[in-house]
Amino acid sequence: MQSVITATGSYLPSVIVTNDALALRVDTSDAWIRERTGITQRHIAAQGEQTSHLALRAAQAALESAGYSAHKIDGIVVATATPDTTMPSVAAKVQAGLGITKGAALDVAAACTGFIYALSVAHGWIQTGIATRVLVIGAETMSRIIDWEDRNTCVLFGDGAGAVILEAVPSGTRGIRAITLEAAGEFAPLLGTHGGVSSTQTAGTLFMQGQEVFRHGVEKMASVTLATLEKAGLTLADVDWLIPHQANARMIRMIARQLKIAQEKCVITVAEQANTSAATIPLALDIARRDGRLQPGNIVAMPALGAGLTWGCCVISW
Ligand code: COA
Repeated sequence: MQSVITATGSYLPSVIVTNDALALRVDTSDAWIRERTGITQRHIAAQGEQTSHLALRAAQAALESAGYSAHKIDGIVVATATPDTTMPSVAAKVQAGLGITKGAALDVAAACTGFIYALSVAHGWIQTGIATRVLVIGAETMSRIIDWEDRNTCVLFGDGAGAVILEAVPSGTRGIRAITLEAAGEFAPLLGTHGGVSSTQTAGTLFMQGQEVFRHGVEKMASVTLATLEKAGLTLADVDWLIPHQANARMIRMIARQLKIAQEKCVITVAEQANTSAATIPLALDIARRDGRLQPGNIVAMPALGAGLTWGCCVISW
């Protein structure tokens, strides 16, 4: 069985917060944010709009692009660091929202690497016959764990959701070619939240040592891309599109430069969406599919890095 991405969808909350609007709240400027990160704006969920609402909208968009009803779905994996509730999972809520009752549903917590981890879970379900059509969703309301007084972090993040359908296809050359997953918990002090359910009974707010995370991001996303291509029996020359986790445009350009991948082969969405954590890669996939950049047979490399630290990469033949 091949695990093929057959559809994509996404959802961004309608409220847009510009850099200038943030500069009214904290000591920052549009020029600083653009120059250091490439970010110009971010979407922020409205009051009452929760991660499962975003995830459901992205899932519905993916089903619309697939052209079939939710009843064909037999598995849901949601990557998120910002679930509505500790339990049940966002995935279970999406299942209920879609009006379906069959198949597995679970959330995956690997921060900004979450979508790649979630793809590996869905791939495993398909390879072992547990499921045949899995909604794999990255969905976040990062705005709920941001310290809006901290200019070091509040300018970097946004809310949103992206979804793909990973489908069992009997034969052919399309589909997941290789996945690499890594983690190093020793780096937990670099990026995380102050607090959480079992420590402070709150979700906590985000902290980050930006420069250190940047350094690990460039080094680890570049090396894991190479390792995953090698596992797939491919080389850098085979890559049609680099669709990395979107944390910082400078970081993406540096990774591409290290890998000697042309900048034109990078899909960059961070300017309009900022860092939506586990949602950045499926959001970027949806944009690149809809604007026609992704064509059948294209080799796509999707490296990511996030809190944990966790990192990984999926190489897929589109
Ligand atoms: N506006 C204005 N100034 C700011 C600022 C902001 N929003 N945020 C930080 N600064 C200041 C700092 O206080 C510092 O001032 P100082 O020199 O007086 O101490 C100065 O800008 C430089 O800060 P520094 O942290 O060295 O900037 P940087 O060039 O490393 O950029 C990040 C900061 C956060 C943009 C960058 O480190 C980054 O993108 N890191 C990785 C982020 C990431 O990927 N996170 C998620 C991973 S999943």
